[in-house]
Amino acid sequence: MGSALFFLTLTSLKTVAKQNQLVRFRMASTAATFGLKDPSLIRTQGFVNGKWVDGEEGGKITVTNPANNAELGTVPEMTLTQTKEAIAAAADAFKSWSKTTAKHRHDLLMKLHRLMLQHHDDLGRIVTLENGKTLTEGKGESAYSASFIEWFAEEAVRTYGEQIPSSMPGIRNLVIKQPIGNGIFTPWNFPSAMITRKLGAALAAGCTSVIKPPPETPFSALALAELASRAGFPDGVINIVTTQKNVIPIGKEICESKTIRKISFTGSTPVAKLLYGIASSTMKKVSIEAGGNSPFIVFGDADIDDAVEGAVACKFRGSGQTCVCANRIYVHSSVYAEFASRLAEKVAAFKIGDGLLSDTTHGPLIHEKAISKVVKHVEDAVSKGAQILVGGKRRDGPGSFYEPTVLSDVPAGPSTFFGQEETFGPVAALIKFETEKEVIELANDTDVGLAGYFYSRDIGRIWRVAEALEVGMVGINTGIIANATVPFGGVKESGLGREGGHGINEYMQEKLLAFGGLDK
Ligand code: SIN
Repeated sequence: MGSALFFLTLTSLKTVAKQNQLVRFRMASTAATFGLKDPSLIRTQGFVNGKWVDGEEGGKITVTNPANNAELGTVPEMTLTQTKEAIAAAADAFKSWSKTTAKHRHDLLMKLHRLMLQHHDDLGRIVTLENGKTLTEGKGESAYSASFIEWFAEEAVRTYGEQIPSSMPGIRNLVIKQPIGNGIFTPWNFPSAMITRKLGAALAAGCTSVIKPPPETPFSALALAELASRAGFPDGVINIVTTQKNVIPIGKEICESKTIRKISFTGSTPVAKLLYGIASSTMKKVSIEAGGNSPFIVFGDADIDDAVEGAVACKFRGSGQTCVCANRIYVHSSVYAEFASRLAEKVAAFKIGDGLLSDTTHGPLIHEKAISKVVKHVEDAVSKGAQILVGGKRRDGPGSFYEPTVLSDVPAGPSTFFGQEETFGPVAALIKFETEKEVIELANDTDVGLAGYFYSRDIGRIWRVAEALEVGMVGINTGIIANATVPFGGVKESGLGREGGHGINEYMQEKLLAFGGLDK
């Protein structure tokens, strides 16, 4: 009996050693593909309760580089059972993490921030390889991502409560803020920064997290978990569940869980509505940053040079794959021809290609589905009278490239797809308008309202238009609006809540402490 047990133990030890060897081999070959200075930032497993784990059923998600469709590596297809384990780990860790001092959380976040800066180049390279954006943008995102960790470290120590004068004798009122505990869903267009924008706030508030990264870009999320673990975040505080096929049951589990009290989601409006609906079953607090369809208005009195620069920055950032990208560019008839030709000239000079190459100005779209949507928008607009000034077609060959495009004479309103939904691609759709009233009506004629932009030098118009646009963020004479210090979020069907800025409050709840019997 004793020797049989010894034999069994020996066999299972050998199996574990073999599995570990396989994992090390997989990590090493994936890391070699990424070509990082620190290859150990590449993790090919999910992260639950401080441990790196394979998928329970052995399934794998293959991640490819959208610039050439080459395989980058695999991550596990995790299961519902593993998600339940991650939720349980987060709930368990919450008991102690939520009791840590704000100063302690600040210090750990700052340690993570320093590690992110130290590995800035590698983190940028991971973003570029899995998302396709240029290395400049990838590194830019890495810095943007780190800035959320720094900002929320600083916010952690300022979650002040309130003392409210009582309307009743003998009572004193205090309001304290307490962490809520949460689940995070993130998109592929900012594989790192959309995590830290949520996670930084959550950790600073004292929440623990279960993160479901997108299947297209999981390596940035896993690298963040690796750095967080190096920084010393305790087991269970950050959990990462990678999935592609099981996304519906896993998403449902997170949204229906009674222990997760908050959901934070960035992604499309239809998916946001689905998650919001499911999360209502347990009355969770919900933050949603869903899609937009940003108007970008150039008035007749605008500085045209600035407006062209702003349109280039805003429309073509990430090859048009941001929620705040201009989607409908309204240009006053008096400056239309000049604006169109100057913008077309700039866009014609773009060079699409592999984001790692130094002369590439714009990378690929994330996948074939994204290309199909762009093709649909362009063909539809052209069939309704739009003219192609530059671009207007996909590029043949490997990789999901669509030429940076400028369309003029796009019909206004919801008769084209540009008027109905965000394109999420590198197409500037120019629409002519005559009056301020008309353009405000056109800009607001949509169910979503994330960002809006306009160019004007008239102070009266600036106030009128800024107040009239039905959006959560307005860029006035600028095409770039977001950073860690300001509130980011939309109105209408673009979402709920704000991230960045005072967004730590989204991860806390107020509790009233009414003290009686004090005047005896
Ligand atoms: C997004 O596209 O969802 C985020 C864009 C940003 O942070 O600027």
